[in-house]
Amino acid sequence: MLNPALSITHEDLTGANDGQPVGIAVVGLGYWGPNLLRVLGDNLDAEVRWICDLDTERLAKYRRRHPSARVTTRIDRVLSDPTVDAVIIATPVHTHYALAAQALEAGKHVFVEKPLAESTELADDLAQLARERGRILMCGHTFLYSPPVRAVKRMIEAGTLGDIFFISSSRVNLGLHQRDVSVIWDLGPHDFSILLYWLSELPTSVRAVGRDSIVKGIADVAFVTMTFASGIVVNVELSWLAPSKLRRTVLVGSESMVIYDDGAPEPVRLFDRGVVYRDPETFGEYHLSYRSGDVISPRIESHEPLGLELADFVKAIQAGDPMEFHTAIARSVVAIVEAADQSLQAGGREVSLADHADISRQLAERRELVAAG
Ligand SMILES: NC(=O)c1ccc[n+]([C@@H]2O[C@H](COP(=O)([O-])OP(=O)(O)OC[C@H]3O[C@@H](n4cnc5c(N)ncnc54)[C@H](O)[C@@H]3O)[C@@H](O)[C@H]2O)c1
Repeated sequence: MLNPALSITHEDLTGANDGQPVGIAVVGLGYWGPNLLRVLGDNLDAEVRWICDLDTERLAKYRRRHPSARVTTRIDRVLSDPTVDAVIIATPVHTHYALAAQALEAGKHVFVEKPLAESTELADDLAQLARERGRILMCGHTFLYSPPVRAVKRMIEAGTLGDIFFISSSRVNLGLHQRDVSVIWDLGPHDFSILLYWLSELPTSVRAVGRDSIVKGIADVAFVTMTFASGIVVNVELSWLAPSKLRRTVLVGSESMVIYDDGAPEPVRLFDRGVVYRDPETFGEYHLSYRSGDVISPRIESHEPLGLELADFVKAIQAGDPMEFHTAIARSVVAIVEAADQSLQAGGREVSLADHADISRQLAERRELVAAG
């Protein structure tokens, strides 16, 4: 079920409008949807045909800025329009499954904001529906298109870090408190998608502790620890309660170390640092020495990840690329979030993801698809 052979043809995916701009509908114009609308406005291969939101004031505001798009509060009007090839969904998490399933059923390609769905079961359902309908199901894991994240991926693939021992990450700032989901569901997908992309491996176990400091029942701080079959251990700190914004990840390997600091003037720094340990059985005495070599800050292109992400979605529709790697990552992100949430509810109990091994294999097999980007 999790790794079926693909039977989608190029014609299935591209539909009838080869060579024409891809007709898009954007559903959800709250905080994030307008950013998606903005980057679509710069994409010559895409044409926004509908904007849809339940809030008529928001619709009126964006109708003025996008006069050629039709507006509606009703998704069924969008889905019955044959000039709509793809639907982009930026609504609250609990609505993702129903809206995405409806759009896939109507034969549309779907881009849904992170996280893909509220549970692994629902994420699997959507992935299966997309396969059956021969439609793309992509999730908004924007960081996979971030030039610094891709630079780190290239270093890992080139073996620059050697064996990765551990990774430690902080993603904290003051707000935005979400009303319906915990900080794990809100911020976790960013770190978890980056980790899956870098490591091409799903953790075998997840533990999380946290607290609902402000709004009872909604955790606003969480410390998530993951172990991987390769031996890598990872800790991710997620919080809406912090004096300043920090998005910083440290990767420690046997050959070198990397700091990825999103938003810093030098977002990726490679440290030729480490410890050399000589085994006393071989060398007669216990010996440790510290290596402290150069620090390199590679030049990183400055492209807006969101623009690259939607351009990739549109190109995939035109080219007939099923984007399975993205569906697999999106589904695995939900599995990690779900496990972390379960662990948090159970006071930090270890939650196993061992039975998801076939997804790990799928990620490893497909990693070359985006490694080069
Ligand atoms: N990729 C990123 O970096 C990033 C950043 C922020 C938010 N997001 C994601 O974007 C999504 C939306 O988050 P937000 O902060 O913009 O939420 P929001 O609450 O600010 O906006 C959601 C909008 O969806 C509309 N809506 C709700 N149900 C609808 C329906 N059935 N049909 C049409 N419209 C409907 C609401 O009226 C509202 O305008 C979430 O999945 C969130 O995780 C992604």
